[in-house]
Amino acid sequence: MIHFNEFYAALQHTALAPRSAEFKAAIAARYEQRLQGDHARWQQAFDDLPAITASDCSLTTDTVTACSEQPLSANTTEQLRQALIGLHPWRKGPFRLFDLTIDTEWRSDWKWRRLQAHIASLDKRKVLDVGCGSGYHCWRMRGAGASLVVGIDPSQKFLFQFHAIKKYLGPHPVFYLPLRSEDLPVDCQAFDTVFSMGVLYHRRSPFDHLEELKRALKPGGELVLETLVIEGGRNQVLVPGERYAQMRNVWYIPSAEELLHWLRRAGFEHARLVDVNQTTTEEQRTTEWMRFHSLTNFLDPHDHNRTIEGYPAPLRATLIARRPH
Ligand SMILES: C[S@@+](CC[C@H](N)C(=O)[O-])C[C@H]1O[C@@H](n2cnc3c(N)ncnc32)[C@H](O)[C@@H]1O
Repeated sequence: MIHFNEFYAALQHTALAPRSAEFKAAIAARYEQRLQGDHARWQQAFDDLPAITASDCSLTTDTVTACSEQPLSANTTEQLRQALIGLHPWRKGPFRLFDLTIDTEWRSDWKWRRLQAHIASLDKRKVLDVGCGSGYHCWRMRGAGASLVVGIDPSQKFLFQFHAIKKYLGPHPVFYLPLRSEDLPVDCQAFDTVFSMGVLYHRRSPFDHLEELKRALKPGGELVLETLVIEGGRNQVLVPGERYAQMRNVWYIPSAEELLHWLRRAGFEHARLVDVNQTTTEEQRTTEWMRFHSLTNFLDPHDHNRTIEGYPAPLRATLIARRPH
């Protein structure tokens, strides 16, 4: 089982210190008392990772990297590869650990490039990344100067992926908690920037999600929201049938203009749209590190502007807003 002592120690110097007991209770309820079926297998893969001390790491490059001065032996590289493959599928990245590049399903660096120029500087800020996946963007946030990064995601497999990377990147104040945003201590008002990327459309109740994000922010703090949108204006929202691009858990896909309205209605100010981008089969694709079907299989083979269910193909918007003082 993964332990969180380092996280609690890091909290001692922050406004979250009085909320430690609530984090402990949430982690016990969501993780320690609810281990997922493959937990023992992921734990074994993690335990099989070879002990290697990195001489350097890079959190500011597209590929988050740990490297060593001496090349690894072929045996050690193979041991590393086998252990990491035990945590398949790798969705968010890319990462490079010594001689191995983890070519993930997503070029998550492209998303980072699209938003980087628009957000407030992360230098010395405390940052929350809701729905962080493997934690790729958490490392980029640390690379951009954040003094504390907390990623939350209920996936226990991604928890092990995160720790596999952290093992080699060294002791940074970057933590992954296996929680949902609903599990956060209520109204903690502790973060300077909160990211929610690729999560809103998974929520049955988008306004509850916006409220959770707002309450995690300090007054004056910045929200970075990235989610699926459709073309259109006010009052336009797609609620797909059972599946959208083969995903079963997609609920609300508003137009960007409608989403701006939602942000204002939820009590944010200075809401603005900074990017709209149609996901391509170069950005999301099958690789040797994610061997299942990917975007190309979820689109109409004759028209990549449609999903195979006939809906508009995935279009993603990034919006920025502020919690009022
Ligand atoms: C599409 S992925 C996005 C990953 C990453 N943020 C990105 O933009 O590349 C959505 C992630 O959100 C997580 N998730 C879904 N519902 C959540 C919730 N209520 N709270 C936190 N994470 C959630 C899922 O487990 C999944 O890893």
